[in-house]
Formats: sequence, structure tokens, C-alpha cells
Amino acid sequence: MNQEFIKKYRELFGNESDDFFSSLLKKRKRYFRLNKARDVDYLKELNSYKISPTDIPNVFSYDEPNEIITNTISFLTGGIYIQNPSSVIPPMILSELLGNNGVVLDVAAAPGGKTTALSEFSNRNMTIIANEPSSSRLKSLNFNLEKYGAWNVNTISFDGRVLHKKLPQIFDGILLDAPCSNENKIGYSEEINKNWSIDLLNKMKKLQKEIILSVLQLLKPGGFLIYSTCTFSIEENEQNIEEILKENSDFELIDINKNRFTKGISGNIALDDKIIRVLPHKSEYDGFFIAGLKKKGELIIDNKNEKNTEKNTINQFFPGHEFEGTFKSIDGLIFFQKENRLIEKIKFNKTGIKAGKMIKNELELSSQFLWEFGKFFNENKKIYIKRENAIEFLSGFDISMEVDRDKNALFYEDIPVGVVKNLGGVLKNKLDRYFLYGRGI
Ligand SMILES: C[S@@+](CC[C@H](N)C(=O)[O-])C[C@H]1O[C@@H](n2cnc3c(N)ncnc32)[C@H](O)[C@@H]1O
Repeated sequence: MNQEFIKKYRELFGNESDDFFSSLLKKRKRYFRLNKARDVDYLKELNSYKISPTDIPNVFSYDEPNEIITNTISFLTGGIYIQNPSSVIPPMILSELLGNNGVVLDVAAAPGGKTTALSEFSNRNMTIIANEPSSSRLKSLNFNLEKYGAWNVNTISFDGRVLHKKLPQIFDGILLDAPCSNENKIGYSEEINKNWSIDLLNKMKKLQKEIILSVLQLLKPGGFLIYSTCTFSIEENEQNIEEILKENSDFELIDINKNRFTKGISGNIALDDKIIRVLPHKSEYDGFFIAGLKKKGELIIDNKNEKNTEKNTINQFFPGHEFEGTFKSIDGLIFFQKENRLIEKIKFNKTGIKAGKMIKNELELSSQFLWEFGKFFNENKKIYIKRENAIEFLSGFDISMEVDRDKNALFYEDIPVGVVKNLGGVLKNKLDRYFLYGRGI
């Protein structure tokens, strides 16, 4: 391991440092987050994996038996997200603080682990804007939003340092999971180990502070900023927060720890007590830092700005179900999204998820819309298939099977698998192709 790194953290952790270094090299447990917004029993498909709940809601540890988890229907259709519990704490805390309401900005969002968690925790109730400046990473964010059904999220792509010039001051909550020196991965990434230096920490610290200063300007009075990193350096963590508080008297530190987690390590007790440190030698989870700031004042979350007042139905496919979002037609494609007057003027990269496309005045549903709303799908149009057929379909193949011609949606038990065109004898695969190419994202 990088000698400079060892020197720095020996000084910081003293007698604990050997434990700390060996925890960085240890093989870690695996975890996934269950997509709870859908009310589908994905765990039933995974019954051959040794699964145990963790103390973070919806997050489970698992042992992989014969089949890798990324080849299951649950993973391929957005029922589970591979994610460490500590990475779920920041969205969990922001959801708690906002009571699952309000307009929220996720400043550094790709690949979307925290954005999809926020969306799911709030049961798609928040209006979320997710930002990612890197165009290749934006693709992975957009892919995951579509796959995990996050129809209450719209994306933008700016450097976090200029967001105050691009967005209005409308946010009840902001999540900044900042770019950082990534020390948590130093034990198993040769690149991070090689590139680590005190200079890097200082460079990241400066970048993080500039992003924080920009996005703080977007909070409404009483609004919350949750700041997190997956790195250990005090410079990028407690020190940044300390400086921000000193230089900005209209913000205060809030107690997000509430004696539930390991505390800060800066030596400033007033600060350390209120923030969260997950340390890999004291927890089985990945290292994380999380702090919460509040803009002084009373927060008034105004849901009247949401425009989904007229309830929408597509009775042919979802008889009687009232959709609480809006369907929008763009160039023959139909998108389903959350509309909110407060964000009307913002130009988005992606809005909501694709519900389907119009073909000769008929709606051809997208598979991702079925994954999200399959629970309400017309029983008369369902085709129940075996698990191996479902995996075949999700690998891009057609299915040979004779069923009534008006049936067009595949289900494995209660898990929605995808939409087909029923040609009589052949069920033609209508899965959007990027779900095949994007498998490894
Ligand atoms: C720790 S990752 C985010 C992980 C993500 N929140 C999740 O849970 O999946 C940090 C992200 O910040 C982005 N980033 C880098 N520089 C940035 C900047 N100046 N402003 C905003 N985001 C930035 C990176 O491209 C990266 O996607």
C-alpha cells in the first residue's frame, strides 16, 4: 500500500491503524438494495442465495451460490441494485428529513445508486433532478433511471461548481455525494493506490468546497444539504464542513448521527458528534462520511406545484389503475414523468421513463414501464413463463410459444419480465436494445 498513505493514517489512527489497514485489504461482504417502490417479491427468485437483512432499510447481504446475481431476472429488470449499505445512508437520511416530499437535487449522481434509492424511498413522491457532468457517466445514470423505473427523476449535465448559475433556488433538499480521493478503495484498486497523494487530497478538497458553495445557494430557507464522500481524509470531510459553517452564518450543522453510527474523527466534538463516519475497521460496511447542513429558517414544502392533478389511465393494459404522473408524447415516443411547475423552465437531458411508442395509433408498451407497473397489469394479457425463458428473453431472444393473440406481457410468477409482439407461435422480443448492451453498467 502507498507509503505516504500509510504514514498519514498511522498518525491519525494510532493503535487502531493496523486494524484499519487490514480492513482495507479484506474481502468485503456483498450487498444489494431491494427496489421497494414496486411491491414485487424479488426475494423469492433469489431463494438459493443466502440472504440476510442489514440494519439499513431494504438492504440485504448475500452469498452467491452457482449463478451470479447479475444474471437473475430480479437484477436484469431493476428489482435489485448492487450497493453497499453505507452508500444507502445519505439518501435514507435525506428522505427522513424531508418526510419523502419536496424538490430534491442530486448534484453528482452517476451511476445513480443514491438517486434510485431516493426515488424508491419516497415511493416516487419527490421531484428529483439528478446532475452528472461526465457525458459517459450520464449515460450510465440515464440507463439506471430507466431500468429502476425512476419516473420522478429528470437529468441535467453541469459542473457542480456552476449549478447556482443554472438552476433556481427551489430545492427543499440537496444530496452531494462528492467526487473524492476514493480512499475506501485503496486496498483493491491499483490505480487509486498509485495516484494517492497529499496533493490529490488538497485538490479534491478544493473542488468539493467549490461545489458545496455553489449548491448551497440553491436551497430554500429551512432546506437541507446532505454531503457525503467515500474517503477518509479529514481534509475532504470534517474540515470542509467546518470551514463552510465558519464562513456561512446562514447554515447550521444538524445532528444526523443521533448516536446511531460511529462519529467524526476531527477532534472537534461539537462537529464530530453530529456527523456520520462509517469506518471499515469498526463496521462491516464500506468507509463513508456523511454530514447534514440546514439553511436557517422554516422549510415549507409546497406540493401544490405538482401538476399531476388529472389522473391518467391506460385501461387496455392497466384496467382501473390511475397513474399519478403525466404521459408526454415526443416524436412518437411516450414518456411518463412527474410534472412540477417549479422545474418547468429547466432544460433536461432526460425526463421520466419511456412508457412506450405509438404504432398506428396503438400504444406499444415498453418493458421498463411493465417492470415498474406490472403489479397493475391486465391479468387477461399476461403470459406466464418459466425462469429459463425469462432469462432468454432478457438476453435478447424471441420465445417460441403458442398463446392467445391478445396476450403480450411476460411474467415469471409475480415478476414482470417484458413486453412481446405476439406473432402466433413466436413471441417477438420488444426489449429496448440498450438493456442488452448496458448489462455491465
Ligand atoms: C462518488 S461519485 C457519485 C456516485 C453516485 N452518487 C451514486 O451513488 O451512484 C461522484 C460523481 O461526481 C462526478 N463529478 C466529478 N466532478 C464533478 C463536478 N465538478 N461537479 C459535479 N459532479 C462531479 C463524477 O463524474 C462522479 O460521477
